[in-house]
Amino acid sequence: MNIVKTIAEVREQVKAWKKEGLSVGLVPTMGYLHEGHQSLIERAVKENDRVVVSDFVNPTQFAPNEDLESYPRDLERDAALCEKAGADLIFHPEPEEMYAKDACTFVDMRALTKNLCGKTRPIHFSGVCTVVSKLFLIVNPDRAYFGEKDAQQLAVIRRMVRDLNFDIEIVGCPIIREEDGLAKSSRNTYLTKELREAAPVLHKALEEGKQMVLEGERSAEKVRETIKKRIEAEPLAKIDYVEIVDFETIEPIETIKGSVLAAVAVYFGKTRLIDNFILTDI
Ligand code: PAJ
Repeated sequence: MNIVKTIAEVREQVKAWKKEGLSVGLVPTMGYLHEGHQSLIERAVKENDRVVVSDFVNPTQFAPNEDLESYPRDLERDAALCEKAGADLIFHPEPEEMYAKDACTFVDMRALTKNLCGKTRPIHFSGVCTVVSKLFLIVNPDRAYFGEKDAQQLAVIRRMVRDLNFDIEIVGCPIIREEDGLAKSSRNTYLTKELREAAPVLHKALEEGKQMVLEGERSAEKVRETIKKRIEAEPLAKIDYVEIVDFETIEPIETIKGSVLAAVAVYFGKTRLIDNFILTDI
C-alpha cells in the first residue's frame, strides 16, 4: 500500500490501473479511522480491483467556531487500518495541495442542505460537496462509498452525482456501532467517561421510534415526540434537532411513507453527536 500527498501522484497511479482495465473504488474520509470507516473500505475492496482511501480533514466544511484544529489526526494508525482492510492507496494531501490560496469555486446545493445539520452548520455541505467533487475528479473512481451514519451527507452526495452527471456509483453502507449501541465516530474520543455513558441514549431513543413505525405508527410527529422525550430524559444530552424527513428530499414529513430518515443531533458537553435510522419502502 502506498501513501501519497500530491494530486499528480494519485492521477498517475489511477491512470496506470485504468490502463490495465482495473476498477477503482474510493472511500473519502477525514482520517482517525475506526471500524465504521473500515467497513466502507472492506466493502470497497470486495467490489473493486483497487481501492483509494482519502484521508483529509477538509477545512472548508468546518465553520470558524468548529473543531477543525482539534479534530483528531493519526496517519500512522490510519495507514495500519487501511493496509489491514486491503486498501491500495492513501491520498493524504496538505490543505494547500487541495485548495489554492485564492480558490473561489464551490459546489453549492439549493435544496437538501437547509434542514438537519445544514441548519446549525450552514456552510458545511458546500464544503463537503466541493471536496467530494474534487476527490471524484482527482481519483476518477467507478464507485464511491459513504456511511449511512451521515445520512444527510449520503442523500446530498447522491443528488450531487445525479445533478452534475458524475459517472460514479454511490454505495451507502450501514452504521457500525459500539456494543452499547453508540454509533462509532472519531468525535467519540472527545467524550468524558460520564458523557460516554450517557451517549447511547441516542440509539435507544431511535430504536424506540423505529419500533413504533414497525408496529404501524405513521404519524411523524408522534414518533418524533417519543424520540425527543427519551433523549430529554438524559440530563447530559442537549438536543440540537430531532427530525423526521423524506430521505430523498430531506424535507419534513407529516406521514411516514416511502423512504424515511429519522435523524438526531445532540450535544454531550461540547461534543455534537449524530445518529439516525432509515426505513425504505414503508
Ligand atoms: P468522516 O467523518 O471521516 O467519515 C468518512 C465516511 O465514514 C463517511 O461516509 C461516514 O458516513 C462514514 N462513517 C463514519 N462513521 C461511521 C459508522 N459508525 N458506520 C458507518 N460509516 C461511518 O464524512 C466525512 O468524513 C467527510 O464529510 C467527507 C465525506 C470525507 C468529506 O470531507
